[in-house]
Amino acid sequence: MLSGKKILVGVTGSIAAYKSAYFVRELIKLDAEVKVVMTEAACEFISPLTLSTLSKNPVAIEFIKDEETGEWQNHVDLGLWADLFIIAPTSANTLSKLVSGNADNLLIATYLSAKCPVWIAPAMDLDMFKHFSTRDNLEKLTHEGVNVIEPTSGELASGLDGKGRMEEPEVIADLINDFFIGDSLLIGKHIVITGGPTYEAIDPVRFIGNHSSGKTGVLLADECAKRGAKVTLITGPTNSQVIDKNIEVVQIKSAVEMKTAVEEIWNNCDIGIFSAAVADYRPKLAAEEKIKKSDKNLTIELVKNPDILLWAGEHKKADQYLVGFALETENEIENGFKKFEKKKLNLLVLNSLKDKGAGFGHDTNKVTFLKEDNKIVEFELKDKSAVMVDIINEIEVDLSQE
Ligand code: C5P
Repeated sequence: MLSGKKILVGVTGSIAAYKSAYFVRELIKLDAEVKVVMTEAACEFISPLTLSTLSKNPVAIEFIKDEETGEWQNHVDLGLWADLFIIAPTSANTLSKLVSGNADNLLIATYLSAKCPVWIAPAMDLDMFKHFSTRDNLEKLTHEGVNVIEPTSGELASGLDGKGRMEEPEVIADLINDFFIGDSLLIGKHIVITGGPTYEAIDPVRFIGNHSSGKTGVLLADECAKRGAKVTLITGPTNSQVIDKNIEVVQIKSAVEMKTAVEEIWNNCDIGIFSAAVADYRPKLAAEEKIKKSDKNLTIELVKNPDILLWAGEHKKADQYLVGFALETENEIENGFKKFEKKKLNLLVLNSLKDKGAGFGHDTNKVTFLKEDNKIVEFELKDKSAVMVDIINEIEVDLSQE
């Protein structure tokens, strides 16, 4: 699945441009986010309206001037937006411009600005495809790292039979899917993730909670799913939603409910990532009816909640991998390592409250990894989603060394 992946589809003036409608639909079916950039000639073969409707995004054809800055920048924006730029079909004309860098249209200017992998799916008549200019251009682009999806053989629009048909849209979409899943070690692994706060009921309308937004659990779940893992996210109340529809989301409220949900599946999981901000205490008794206000003070007795991560560590099998989070305010490293040992972790992600931009309610975070043999890995302040990528990468590195 391509959830969260941004695919920019370039369409050029070839009869195979009609296939781009099917191609965009395939990518959308795989949950990709799709934008389309077309050449003027492509618009003769397929309507931009068709592609904007299917891609659910406006189609870019011309350079647009920013009214505020007076700058032309949509080619730069598109080029930087994409995780992958695929030009399908690629006409012989566009092919030669990709080599010469003749940026007289938005598609080529976007290509020159793109920082992501670029793929091309040539489509042309058999003699054009055989021509030394075409071969030469393809060789140069391949040498520069452009991925060429070879055309197939068969009946061509000219009526001739030979090599030059653009590869079928489903095949190209599958190749893109394989490219993103790649050879991740998480493919097929079952990962349980806890996230969000827990709400501990005082009575039917009141609870003890905390400021956790639940974003971390959701981002972790999406990153793991993106890499081909089977993900179960057990989360407390949150407004954040996972993008990948294959993620099983188990919604709970209290720590006790979270523990029950974890206990049910931990034995069958390969990896556990426990990011939830679980309340350490809960009211001993949750009143069945709303507690009436009176003139007297109210004392609520709190009892200790189960430590779910500790339970998972104690029941961890040798081949299970366990990640915990910790937020310390003093002696961070020392306390972190104590937690690492006690909870039998493979990785502890230490959050610091001291750093600006880290902790609750920010879109950024600064973390330190604590690992076996007192290994410490420190990171810069980053976007929360980039922090999640670092965490999952670290797990992959450890799995590769097993
Ligand atoms: O001990 P401390 O609460 O600092 O540990 C934090 C880590 O333990 C986090 O990974 C959190 O998700 C987990 N935890 C838990 N159950 C609790 C408390 C914390 O799973 N009751």
